[in-house]
Amino acid sequence: MLHPGTTPVSMLDGVDTDTVSVAIALDDRYVAHNYAPLPVVAASAEGVWITDVTGRRYLDFLAAYSAVNFGHRHPEIIATAHAQLDTLTLVSRAFHADRLAPFCAALAGLCGKDMVLPMNSGAEAVESGIKVARKWGTDVKGVAPGAANIVVAQNNFHGRTTTIISFSDDETARRGFGPYTPGFRSVPFGDADALAAAVDDNTVAVLIEPIQGEAGIIVPPADFLPRVRRLCTERNVLMIADEIQSGLGRTGRTFACEHWDVVPDVYLLGKALGGGVLPLSAVVADRDVLGVLHPGEHGSTFGGNPLAAAIGTTVVGMLQRGEYQSRSAELGAHLHRRLEMLIGHGVRAVRGLGLWAGVDIDPELGTGKQLCVALAERGVLAKDTHGSTLRFAPPLVVTADEIDWAIDQFADALTDARRSR
Ligand SMILES: Cc1ncc(COP(=O)(O)O)c(C=O)c1O
Repeated sequence: MLHPGTTPVSMLDGVDTDTVSVAIALDDRYVAHNYAPLPVVAASAEGVWITDVTGRRYLDFLAAYSAVNFGHRHPEIIATAHAQLDTLTLVSRAFHADRLAPFCAALAGLCGKDMVLPMNSGAEAVESGIKVARKWGTDVKGVAPGAANIVVAQNNFHGRTTTIISFSDDETARRGFGPYTPGFRSVPFGDADALAAAVDDNTVAVLIEPIQGEAGIIVPPADFLPRVRRLCTERNVLMIADEIQSGLGRTGRTFACEHWDVVPDVYLLGKALGGGVLPLSAVVADRDVLGVLHPGEHGSTFGGNPLAAAIGTTVVGMLQRGEYQSRSAELGAHLHRRLEMLIGHGVRAVRGLGLWAGVDIDPELGTGKQLCVALAERGVLAKDTHGSTLRFAPPLVVTADEIDWAIDQFADALTDARRSR
């Protein structure tokens, strides 16, 4: 809701006066246009429900790209945040703070690793993982300085920094932002032979999403990740799993890699780690990898701050109970069953694991964005990706009835789209 005390009248000149239009027009005027949001203006949220500035409620079927895995304003997380806000929020890493070690110990334990490098955004975790891999390559593997390469997958999404977009295939994300960072080789996702062919003596890491999220929730062939794991071990290359979107319960396991019994050398985590409250990301690995960093070689003023660390500790505790992973597995099976029944009725294909689904719709029924607008009009918030694909990723606290209701809305939106063609 606009705050009358801080909104000068001139800001509203020429703007339609209904609340939603005002908010969108102000966004349009003052916020950089690097997103094209659906025309919904959120004002509050609880659990799986978002309420807009007019009081209309929407079922959240995106969960902030998995950052809200535990639902909006989960009481345990909010209680931790309130308590820590009243105690200590930031001292920087110039001093020790009592919340950081318990968080790192808990997260390392969850991952079965020795150490944690705390950062903030997901992209920072990826950047940090790349730096750690290059430093490990130079200091431990013996690659000549500046000669390291990292093998990545085509159609990856790892974030938006200059280095990360350097190995993206998304022209919209790249165009105009060069020069690009060298040192990356891209192979088709799921093709272990191509990946093996790309690895040479200067390869320090394979950086991969176990399930590609932004690409449309692409699950690799069954032997892919086990073969990547074996190859990395044989060639002395770090396997880095970007579990920023796929991890922390989303696929029905703590980590998506578990579906293939694969343990990477390095986990990159983010999004849900911050409990849907603040940015908190991490690089998690054993001491022989993270130990390559020494004072001054890497850092972040806010990385691992007491507020984030307290919230992260609560999040890890919640994941240790296993209930969110089980919910995601059980309710995810229900979600996928319901979606598969729509194949041939406007849906072409459904992919994914747990409460994470990529749904290709018949392109003749419209774009994914048009379907998302129609769904929003019916009270369900989801997000398109690449043309005619929708992704569904509700908070893991969603109920079977709520899933049924959302899929009923989706089926009706498809029927409407078919009628209006
Ligand atoms: C797999 C993956 N890695 C990295 C990122 C970047 O995270 P952030 O937007 O927090 O920088 C994302 C964001 O969607 C992601 O899905």
